[in-house]
Amino acid sequence: MNIILLGPPGAGKGTQAARLEAQRGMVQLSTGDMLRQALAQGTPVGIQAKAVMDAGALVSDAIVSALVGERLDGLEERGSIFDGYPRTRAQAEALDQLLSDRGRALDFVIELEVDEDALVERITGRFSCAVCNAPYHDIYKLPKVEETCDKCGSREFKRRPDDNEATVRTRLGEYRAKTAPILPYYEQRGLVHRVDGMASVEEVSAQVDAILDSSISD
Ligand code: AP5
Repeated sequence: MNIILLGPPGAGKGTQAARLEAQRGMVQLSTGDMLRQALAQGTPVGIQAKAVMDAGALVSDAIVSALVGERLDGLEERGSIFDGYPRTRAQAEALDQLLSDRGRALDFVIELEVDEDALVERITGRFSCAVCNAPYHDIYKLPKVEETCDKCGSREFKRRPDDNEATVRTRLGEYRAKTAPILPYYEQRGLVHRVDGMASVEEVSAQVDAILDSSISD
């Protein structure tokens, strides 16, 4: 199965993709994570992308589509979750080509519908363990023991440089201008399913699972 999780920054794409990977064995393909990994490794792509990401703008279509293409081979058995990709019409067309070259096709595009004001609070409060990446939030999910990761015991935490209010507002603007307009491209193929992204993580998970399971019962 190949699915796209579509929604503005903070909508919960990464949360759902990581859960689906853990529970269903599918593979999370997050272009944001790929770019951050490229930067951590000091590759030319990562270094070039940094300033664009820090400003909240979109990295070039050619770069992100090439990153996705490099990861796609060998995933046929497990299925793919596209998280944060595609983000433009050119990327949507590139993804179709990448999949058809491998004899594969999209099954679902799941749009997480959210209230933008709530997203700013969600994103600016987010932080994670610097060692194991366990996710936390200043308001909704603090570590059980102060400043100690619940999962691995580390006392080191990190925040993304693009998770400040000004950059989040730019990222939301980019989503409205360039990403939301690709929905009709998928709607006309009957692929789009909508989920209430303002519900609890458990409720969103149940809605996503119901969509994926609908293909099994078809
Ligand atoms: P990327 O890393 O993809 O960031 P994003 O799309 O802005 O999405 P986020 O990771 O911020 O949010 P999310 O929807 O995954 O939400 P999450 O689950 O974390 O991209 C970063 C940058 O890279 C871009 O700005 C761009 O520069 C570049 N880039 C990446 N892909 C690109 C592409 N294809 N083309 C061009 N450039 C690209 O949840 C957020 C928070 O909310 C968490 O704290 C979480 O715990 C919490 N939460 C999640 N669900 C719920 C819920 N239901 N209720 C309450 N809280 C919830």
